[in-house]
Amino acid sequence: MLAAMVLMGTASVSTVAVAMEWPDEKACGEAVKSGDKIIKGWCTAISRRAGNCLGCHQAMVSPWPEKLAPGGNIGPPLVAMKARFPNREDLRAQIWDPTVRNPNTSMPPFGKHGLLTEEQIDSIVDWLMTI
Ligand code: HEC
Repeated sequence: MLAAMVLMGTASVSTVAVAMEWPDEKACGEAVKSGDKIIKGWCTAISRRAGNCLGCHQAMVSPWPEKLAPGGNIGPPLVAMKARFPNREDLRAQIWDPTVRNPNTSMPPFGKHGLLTEEQIDSIVDWLMTI
C-alpha cells in the first residue's frame, strides 16, 4: 500500500514534468528561482556566461520531453550520459579537466581553470545524469 502511494506520487511528479516547458537561456533567470536542481544545472550548462556547452555540443534537454537542443558539432551530442558514464565521478572529471583524458581536446577545463565553480559543476552533472 505504501509502495503504491509512493509510486503514485512519483507518477504525478513526472506528469508535471511532462507538461513543463524547458527554459531557454532567456527564461532561465526566472526558472532557476524554482530551486529545482536539474533546471539549475541545465541553465548553468546553456548560459553563455557559464558553461556555454551548446557552443560545442547538441544536448538532450531532459527525459521529458525527449528533445535534442540545437548546438555546435565540435563535441559529440550530450546524450545517454548515464549509460556512457556509469560512474558520476568520471563524468564530473571530464568537465573539471577534459585534458586528463585527451591532452589535445578543445573542451575547456572548466574546474581546473576556475571557469565554473565546484557548485556549478555539480549542478551540471546533476542535470547530465538525467539525460
Ligand atoms: C570549445 C568546445 C567545447 C565546449 C565549450 C564544451 N565541450 Fe564538451 N567536449 C568537446 C569535445 C571536442 C569533446 C570530445 C572529447 C575530447 O575532445 O576529448 C567533448 C566531450 C565532452 C564529454 C564527453 C562525451 C563522451 O561521450 O565521451 C562531455 C560529458 C562533455 N564534453 C560535456 C561538456 C559540458 C557539460 C560542457 C559545458 C560545461 C562542455 N562539454 C563544453 C568540446 C567542448
